[in-house]
Formats: sequence, C-alpha cells, structure tokens
Amino acid sequence: MKAIVTGGNRGIGLEIAKKLLAKGFEVHVLSRSGIVSPPAGMISWAADVADYEQTIRIVDRIGPADVLVNNAGIMNTKTASDYCHDEILHILNVNLITSVRLSVRVAEQMAGSGGGRIVSMGSIAGEIGHPDIWYGISKAGIVNAMRSLARTFGPRGVIANSVAPGPVETDMMQSIPQERKDRLQAATIRQRFCTAEEVAETVCWLATAAPACINGEVIDLNNGVNYR
Ligand SMILES: NC(=O)c1ccc[n+]([C@@H]2O[C@H](COP(=O)([O-])OP(=O)(O)OC[C@H]3O[C@@H](n4cnc5c(N)ncnc54)[C@H](OP(=O)(O)O)[C@@H]3O)[C@@H](O)[C@H]2O)c1
Repeated sequence: MKAIVTGGNRGIGLEIAKKLLAKGFEVHVLSRSGIVSPPAGMISWAADVADYEQTIRIVDRIGPADVLVNNAGIMNTKTASDYCHDEILHILNVNLITSVRLSVRVAEQMAGSGGGRIVSMGSIAGEIGHPDIWYGISKAGIVNAMRSLARTFGPRGVIANSVAPGPVETDMMQSIPQERKDRLQAATIRQRFCTAEEVAETVCWLATAAPACINGEVIDLNNGVNYR
C-alpha cells in the first residue's frame, strides 16, 4: 500500500506520515526541506507544491497511490490590503490549486484501479474566515473541492474528504500573537487546542478505516469553538 503526504516532514503532516507508516503504508513525503533521515518505509522527496508541474513529475515517479493526503500549507501574517497579486497566486497555488489538480490526477488513477482515498487539510478558517483572507479562502476552497471530487469520482471508488482543525501548536502558529492565541484557547470547551496527533489520527481514519459512505465530508476539530 502506498501513501503520498504533502508537507509530511514536520508539524501535522509528519504525524500523519508516521501514523500511515505504522499502519503498513509505504509513505512518500513531499516537502521543500525534506527529512534528513527518514525511517524505513518513509521516502522523502524535495518538491515545491507551488509548482504543479514539478510536483506531478514526482508523483508520476512515485506511481499509483492508495492514499493521497494534501497537507502542505502556508499562512501569512498579511492583511487583505497588504497582499499583492503574486502573493495571492502563491498562497492559492500552495494551499489550493496544486492540491486540487493533484487530487484530480490521482483520483483518475485511483478510479481506474478500483478506488482509493484522498484527505485534504482544511481549517476552521475556511468556515469562519481569517485575518489572512487568502488563507481562509484557500481552506474554504479545499473543502468544496473534496465534495466535487467525491461526486465525480465516488461512483468509481474514490473517497475524498477533508478535515478542518482549529489552531494546533506547530511552526505555523508561531506567527500568531500570544494574546490572540490565549483568546482562541479560552473559547475552547477544554481550554486547549487540538494536538497535531489528534488531527493526524482523524486524517488516518479517513484515509483508511472510515466507512465508505463518509464521502465529500468535512470533519471539524476545534474543541467546540464553532459548530458548522
Ligand atoms: N497549525 C494550525 O493551527 C493549523 C490549523 C488548521 C489547519 N492547518 C493546516 O494544516 C496543514 C499543516 O500545517 P502545520 O500546522 O503542520 O504547519 P507547519 O508546521 O508550518 O508545516 C507546513 C508543512 O507544509 C510544507 N510546505 C509549506 N509550503 C510548501 C511548499 N511550497 N511545497 C511543499 N511543501 C510545503 C512544509 O514543509 P517545507 O517548509 O519543508 O516545504 C511543512 O511540511 C496546513 O495545510 C495548515 O494550513 C494548520
């Protein structure tokens, strides 16, 4: 069994890659900085997912996959007024466009070989909005894309879902001011954020054991901050 995890070298993605490895997958991790000494069964590929053509060349070398996890993502500290056009295209390429195009490509392959599973990383930002307007837009888009993929490829065995976590303490959160983090944390039921491990557990369930009738769905992980 083969799995591809974009952005699987650190943060939530690394937790996902480790869990899929433990479940017996050969795990192919795509990231810009890679993994220095990946464990046996984990293969690290240098790839910038902002560049679809480069990404697809690597995915073609990896060959048919049973699972694709679109996890790579960036968030900026810019306000809507600060963004220039190239920066908008860049965040949309990383967080949305390559993930969707890659998913279509992999879904076609999965559909031709009896099926497979795709899980994409949304965010609470895609539901309630975000100070980084393009981050929120990209995450709303990815949830919608998984729905469309489920409807298009689901009849041929492809299961495509997303997860939408609230804040998780990773490198990505370092740019968030402590005062905002405290406020966000205080709004949770248990006064804590979900962990990368909890998000990864949910992604792995969707990627392996979740019932096939869960298709085109989004699972929120935000400890009660927002109910869809
Ligand atoms: N942390 C949160 O609060 C939170 C909440 C909701 C959703 N999410 C989503 O969860 C996902 C993982 O986030 P995280 O918190 O684990 O963030 P992180 O620790 O900053 O990790 C981001 C990952 O994406 C990869 N990446 C970024 N740009 C890339 C590019 N151009 N090409 C290839 N890989 C790229 C990074 O690897 P390299 O830098 O080596 O390329 C890294 O593996 C993201 O999609 C994020 O939006 C995070």
